[in-house]
Amino acid sequence: MVRSYIGITAWITAVVAVEFRFTNHCNYTINLFGGGNVPICELRPHTTRNNNCNATLGTQGLFKHNATNEANLLEYSLINTPGFNQVWYDISNIPPGPGDCKSFEHCKAVTNKTGFNVPMHVAPTKYANGANCRVLNVTKEDSEDAYLFPSDDLKTHDCPLDEVFNVTFCHPGLNNTISLRGLY
Ligand SMILES: *[C@@H]1O[C@H](CO)[C@@H](O)[C@H](O)[C@H]1NC(C)=O
Ligand SMILES: *[C@@H]1O[C@H](CO)[C@@H](O)[C@H](O)[C@H]1NC(C)=O
Ligand SMILES: *[C@@H]1O[C@H](CO)[C@@H](O)[C@H](O)[C@H]1NC(C)=O
Ligand SMILES: *[C@@H]1O[C@H](CO)[C@@H](O)[C@H](O)[C@H]1NC(C)=O
Ligand SMILES: *[C@@H]1O[C@H](CO)[C@@H](O)[C@H](O)[C@H]1NC(C)=O
Ligand SMILES: *[C@@H]1O[C@H](CO)[C@@H](O)[C@H](O)[C@H]1NC(C)=O
Ligand SMILES: *[C@@H]1O[C@H](CO)[C@@H](O)[C@H](O)[C@H]1NC(C)=O
Repeated sequence: MVRSYIGITAWITAVVAVEFRFTNHCNYTINLFGGGNVPICELRPHTTRNNNCNATLGTQGLFKHNATNEANLLEYSLINTPGFNQVWYDISNIPPGPGDCKSFEHCKAVTNKTGFNVPMHVAPTKYANGANCRVLNVTKEDSEDAYLFPSDDLKTHDCPLDEVFNVTFCHPGLNNTISLRGLY
């Protein structure tokens, strides 16, 4: 959840803007949705779509596969303290309805739901520095790169606002054998 680092909020006048480029290497179609289950586009296997798949970015938003709450979310926020001009991003695997659960195991026990449905790899292409601006590689429901509970605040990252992210579903070379109902 992108909820840190929001001090004195400033609305970015989007002269330079972040871009997400989506590639699907899963052997099934990715149905890309935004917040509120707003449909964005379909990505057939082994296709790439640049320019946010033609979605208009908000000051905060998310991308996910399928119109379901039981999905991992690529979340972004362009809300900054003045002068920062960063894009804040994370992948949230928090299951729906978590309350104030305090760990992956706790959230799973409280919700009996998953917050993960597809392997997702997010790579900054311009400013990656191995630290705050770096690859997030989420391949399972308890991947350490993902937000796993609501106050898991070390999982938010940031890059300069004109970053271009490669977002790859089922990144090749990974072991993407996932059993959707076998996650419990
Ligand atoms: C997709 O990959 C899975 C796992 O490797 C395999 O079981 C399945 O048959 C494949 N489906 C298609 C349509 O190729
Ligand atoms: C996305 O926008 C580009 C450029 O305007 C256009 O060529 C393309 O057809 C659009 N794609 C979709 C799926 O709307
Ligand atoms: C969600 O995606 C999976 C493949 O990852 C697909 O099999 C399933 O039918 C989709 N569910 C919905 C509700 O679209
Ligand atoms: C958890 O969810 C699964 C699948 O929906 C269901 O079969 C099971 O009974 C649930 N367990 C509990 C403790 O609610
Ligand atoms: C981003 O994707 C492009 C096109 O697929 C590729 O050429 C480039 O190496 C990728 N960059 C990173 C950092 O993954
Ligand atoms: C992503 O994480 C998985 C699971 O830890 C690992 O097998 C894989 O090599 C990683 N891929 C990349 C590109 O870092
Ligand atoms: C992928 O992971 C599954 C489940 O852990 C395992 O059974 C399988 O052998 C692995 N495949 C490869 C190619 O590593």
